[in-house]
Amino acid sequence: MKETLRYLAGIAGPSGYGSKSTAEQVSQDCCSSVPSHLTAIITGATSGIGAETARVLAKSGVRIVIPARDLGKAAEVKDEIQRESPKAEVIILEIDLSSLASVNRFCSEFLALRLPLNILINNGGVFSQALEYSEDKVEMTFATNYLGHHFLTEKLLDKMVETAAQTGIRGRIINVSSVIHSWVKRDGFCFNQLLNPKNYNGTRAYAQSKLANILHVKELARHLKARNARVSVNAVHPGIVKTGIIRAHKGFITDSVFFIASKLLKSTSQGASTTCYVALSPEVEGVSGKYFADCNESDCSNLANDESEARKLWKQTRLLIHRLLYQPTA
Ligand SMILES: NC(=O)c1ccc[n+]([C@@H]2O[C@H](COP(=O)([O-])OP(=O)(O)OC[C@H]3O[C@@H](n4cnc5c(N)ncnc54)[C@H](OP(=O)(O)O)[C@@H]3O)[C@@H](O)[C@H]2O)c1
Repeated sequence: MKETLRYLAGIAGPSGYGSKSTAEQVSQDCCSSVPSHLTAIITGATSGIGAETARVLAKSGVRIVIPARDLGKAAEVKDEIQRESPKAEVIILEIDLSSLASVNRFCSEFLALRLPLNILINNGGVFSQALEYSEDKVEMTFATNYLGHHFLTEKLLDKMVETAAQTGIRGRIINVSSVIHSWVKRDGFCFNQLLNPKNYNGTRAYAQSKLANILHVKELARHLKARNARVSVNAVHPGIVKTGIIRAHKGFITDSVFFIASKLLKSTSQGASTTCYVALSPEVEGVSGKYFADCNESDCSNLANDESEARKLWKQTRLLIHRLLYQPTA
């Protein structure tokens, strides 16, 4: 109840920000402490929260890499960013997050550019009402929201660790999750069912993928700590924003719920604020393995905090990626 009132009133939490804080506000406040020449990869930056995150980080002087499946849309975002910030450097490379082969190609192309990598924002996502499969024959929501990002992070991790060691600037990885992760019950989270569900339910599949995003953060944070790497990883819930991901759910009920709930919705700039806070704020320097909402550290579900569940998901994911890459027909 207290949390709901805090959200509705936009009351600031310990960070000094709250639900009504915008990405622009957060980045302006961090401006003096943001090192120059940072490079960030932001997935899903062709629309919604990702596009706003890219715009605001570029305005703060960060070089932006946009991996996109729709290169035309990415070019429009680049034009908009450069209209506002003429000196901004924006690089577009092709990716289909739902395809391991495509993620692999993107990483090879990015690494061939020999750029540093300070920030990786795993933001791209889908919320599909119908059961679809990726070219790797994995359920599309899980393939796009979780599996592609897990593989992308793995392929770019050495570059981030190397950049941090060379520059002395701590690397930051951010997985954009959702509060909806807390809807998943322990007995509803079974790896084989995630890949190939018997009774598909789009909301359940989406919630499961968002839980997997947090478990990924938890386990990766432990690996990075054990490796003594100067790279942190955190998860964020951006808030509820009427972007493409929600507009895809047309219909009387969805529209009515959104009409009634319109006072609870964030603007896109408010939706991008937590990502920008975790990406730029000096207060988050060194914080790893945590979950943030409304620009403040927050509680995720017990299941998302379960170390053994995170370890199990990590192992199963590694095995699956290996099988899909090296024995694709098995
Ligand atoms: N909006 C909300 O209320 C809300 C709430 C909680 C969490 N989130 C999370 O916030 C993140 C951003 O979502 P959004 O609301 O900004 O939605 P959005 O406007 O629909 O943006 C989704 C982005 O993901 C990209 N994408 C989807 N599938 C892809 C694929 N296979 N390969 C490459 N890119 C792909 C889209 O590219 P295209 O332009 O090519 O479609 C788009 O750029 C998502 O992770 C979502 O789960 C959103």
